Amino acid sequence: FENVVSMEDLSVEDVLSFVHDATEFKAGKQIELKRPVYAANLFFENSTRTHTSFEMAERKLGLQVVNFDPACSSVNKGETMGDTIKTLQAIGVDVMAIRHKKNEYYKDLVSDPNIHVGIANAGDGSGQHPSQSLLDLMTIYEEFGHFEGLKIAIVGDLTHSRVAHSNMEALTMLGAHVYFGGPKKWYTDEFANYGEWLPMDELVSQMDVMMLLRVQHERIDANENGAFSAADYHEKYGLTLKREAMMPDQSIIMHPAPVNRGVEIADELVECDKSRIFRQMENGVFVRMAIMTSMLRNRDLVKAEY
Ligand code: CP
Repeated sequence: FENVVSMEDLSVEDVLSFVHDATEFKAGKQIELKRPVYAANLFFENSTRTHTSFEMAERKLGLQVVNFDPACSSVNKGETMGDTIKTLQAIGVDVMAIRHKKNEYYKDLVSDPNIHVGIANAGDGSGQHPSQSLLDLMTIYEEFGHFEGLKIAIVGDLTHSRVAHSNMEALTMLGAHVYFGGPKKWYTDEFANYGEWLPMDELVSQMDVMMLLRVQHERIDANENGAFSAADYHEKYGLTLKREAMMPDQSIIMHPAPVNRGVEIADELVECDKSRIFRQMENGVFVRMAIMTSMLRNRDLVKAEY
């Protein structure tokens, strides 16, 4: 791929190919580059997992990582994102991962004829988070070996979640049945088009995957923020110990993290037998290796894969 910015650009075959490549990287596959290749990670919004795992993926592929810190950059003198990227490109950067609070920030960049650097979207506002979606899909595939017919609930802060947007589209395309849970005010028409809303007690006893989302206080305005306490939310919409006991034997718990322990999930369940939360993070490195490799292949920078 020239760029990897949205799940909407990917076919079923593309998704399965990314999952396949990531699985091969997990099994030890390596690549050899034709020349020194440079990567930069531009995170205009906070991140722990996505930022560090893109960097880990780049280093595992043998890329040189150029440091970029928005807080100390000329963005603070008013330089646009487009000019920032063209500057890094002129300096010699080949591929980038970018996170920005603006929804679809990438549209202007990928259509700019003067930008040739490969762009992996590391999250845009409440829009897309394709590398997260692909690592979620890899984790589900690793567990069940298929997507067709799986029942998957996406629970929580749907409106503000790029994970919900990326995953409901991809999972539906792959033949899974998507359900939703959490406060009904966040279950808007766009979600109703993909699946029905059910109360938590009904979801937990039926689902193969309980995919929990973080309550995103930083994206909720002050009026909305006081609408429920953490204890209220946990009792009504959280995965409590009692609800976990109702889940089928082979079912799993997922969460993109960071986790609000004791809010969307009981503290004790974050690392329980059914939890794949840290497995998701582990798989994130391999998925990001697959994403970067696809952009390197597109630029004819890969000499060999073995
Ligand atoms: N899941 C996720 O995107 O985490 P970070 O915000 O820490 O990157």
